[in-house]
This record gives sequence, structure tokens and C-alpha cells, in this order.
Amino acid sequence: MKFLGIETSCDESAAAVVSKQPDGSFQVNSNVISSQADLHALYGGVVPELAAREHLKNLPLVFKKALEDAKVSIQDIDAIAVTQGPGLKGCLLIGCDFARGISDSSGVPLKGVNHIEAHVLSGLLVHKLNFPFLSLVVSGGHTELSQVNGIGDYTLLAKTGDDAAGEAFDKSATLLGLPYPGGVELSKLASSVSKSRFKLPIGLKGKDGFSFSGFKTAVSLLVQNNLTEETKPEIAWAVEEGIVSALLEKIERASSNTGLKEIVVSGGVAANKRLRERLTNHKFLKFYPVPLEFCTDNAAMIAAAAMLRFEAGLNDTLSSEVFPRWPIYKSAANAS
Ligand code: KG4
Ligand code: ZN
Repeated sequence: MKFLGIETSCDESAAAVVSKQPDGSFQVNSNVISSQADLHALYGGVVPELAAREHLKNLPLVFKKALEDAKVSIQDIDAIAVTQGPGLKGCLLIGCDFARGISDSSGVPLKGVNHIEAHVLSGLLVHKLNFPFLSLVVSGGHTELSQVNGIGDYTLLAKTGDDAAGEAFDKSATLLGLPYPGGVELSKLASSVSKSRFKLPIGLKGKDGFSFSGFKTAVSLLVQNNLTEETKPEIAWAVEEGIVSALLEKIERASSNTGLKEIVVSGGVAANKRLRERLTNHKFLKFYPVPLEFCTDNAAMIAAAAMLRFEAGLNDTLSSEVFPRWPIYKSAANAS
């Protein structure tokens, strides 16, 4: 079985070909990503209209390269899987229209995929995991901790009531004068020191649910009162420590509430080195790391999620709508 994945929910135009082997493991035949990060950095954040226009330009090239890299033609593909939500409406429409065009001209069937569900299942691209397990999706727009009971069966354990963890990284980075998206830059700066004289609060400590709005205010005050060239790396260290500690506190809480120890972390912030180290060396959690190329937005996870759902007997035909807000606990039929 071989699926083509297409992803355009935010500022990455991506296409990938993924196969499922007879032993059940995945093989990623190609994984092509064209990032618009440099363009949006000029504006300090993603500009939706520009992102949609860039997808229109980049997607045909990315699609062609994904087939070339995988050494296949469209007729070798069993289904085209495309992100139908959540994400930026104009961007989702470009991806779905493009996928529909290929499907109409080739006769290859179409499947609509939930981007967050694809992040949740991305660990299965590389690991054999038994259900249930814990999943944390941490990106620029999402911070959600779930129990994965099976394919298409998720229990929400905690989510953010305000900012996402990636946003907390990016906004703190902006306060420190680092370029957007600042997560990577802030982390790099933080790694130049090994401790900090500053300490930042964990939002909703001891409770279910994430919160980063008070954290953001605390970073802003810290910057106003203490920022110098000398303290800058230490402030970055404290920001990273604060966000990573908040994520770990909620994972540990979820683990003791559910009795589950296996955890998969995905989304852009899952690329964070300190978070990965803490989880790898954790005293009771068993961490299943997702390779960096499948942590940040990519189309291999979209193809894999569609295959897993297809094998589980779930029917995901693509309707004409897109769903900018689509919790994974709702089917596409109930998404809007
Ligand atoms: O999943 P993603 O690529 O895009 C979406 O938001 O859907 O996640 C992007 C987010 C940004 O906020 C970025 O700053 C953050 O992930 N990020 C990081 C790191 N790499 C990416 N945050 C902290 N440390 C990193 N190494
Ligand atoms: Zn994402």
C-alpha cells in the first residue's frame, strides 16, 4: 500500500510518498518540504494571504519532487491524503483543491486528514507502540495532551486555555530581539549557559490544563527589568526551562492519573533538545522520540495517518469543505 500525502495547513508546503510494508512497518519513500519561514520572518509571524499564495506557487513543485524522489508515478499511488484541517482556511483550500485536481485527473481516491491527529500518530511512523499511550502535541498553534486508545479514539487529558507552547517560545524570543520563529534561536542562545539566576512560573501548576499567558507576562517583566547583553542567554535559559518544566509537569500528572508511562511528543516544539533530554532520561516515563523531520510540519505523517485510519476501517472521503478548527475528538462529519 502506497499513499501520497499533501500538507498546506500553515506555512509549509509539503508532499510525501509513504508505503506500508507487509510486516506493518512504514517506509517513507520521499518527504519534501518547502518552508516559507524566511518570508514570514520579515513580518514577525505567518501572514495568511501570503502563505496561501506561496502554497499555490510551491505545491506543484513539491508534489513533482515527491513523486520523483520516490521514483513512482501517480498511477502507483493507492490514495491521496490531504490535510483538511485544522489550519489557515486559505492554505487548507489550496491543498485540498490541488489534491482534488490530481485525483480527478488520475482517478486515485482522496482522503481528508486531521493535521493534529497526524501529529498524534507520527510516532507510529517509526515505533511499534501498543495502545493506549500518551501523546503530547506541541506546536506554534497547539498544546494538547491526549490518551491514544486506538486509531481514531482519543481522550483529551489537558490542553492550553490561552497560548500554545510554541507561541510562548516565539513571543519570548521576540521580546529578546531574536528573529521569528524564535523557538530554535532561543534554544540555541539558552544552550550557551548552563544555569540562570532567573526563574519563571509554571502556569496552572498542580492542575490539569496548560496556561502560558501569565508566563508571557512574567517574561516581559523580566526583560523590561533585567535585559542586558550579559543576562540575555540566562533569560533565554530560564524561558526554555520554564516551558519545558511546564510540559513535563503535565505529562507526569497525566501519567500518574492514567497509569500510562509511554509518551510520544510531536509538533515543532518536540524538536527542543532540552525537552528531549529530560524525557529520554526520565525516571519513570518511556519516551518514544519522533525524528526531527517528522516532528515539524510534514506530509509523511499525513499519508501515514490516512493509511492507519484506512486499515482501521475508517472511511475518510474528502468533502468539499475545509475545517480551520477541528478537534481530533470529532469526526469530519461533525467538525464544522
Ligand atoms: O509544528 P510546527 O512546525 O508548526 C505549527 O505550528 O503547526 O511548530 C512550529 C513551532 C514554532 O513555535 C517554533 O518556534 C517551535 O515549533 N520550535 C521550537 C523548536 N523548533 C521549532 N521550539 C523550541 N525549540 C526548538 N528546537
Ligand atoms: Zn503542525
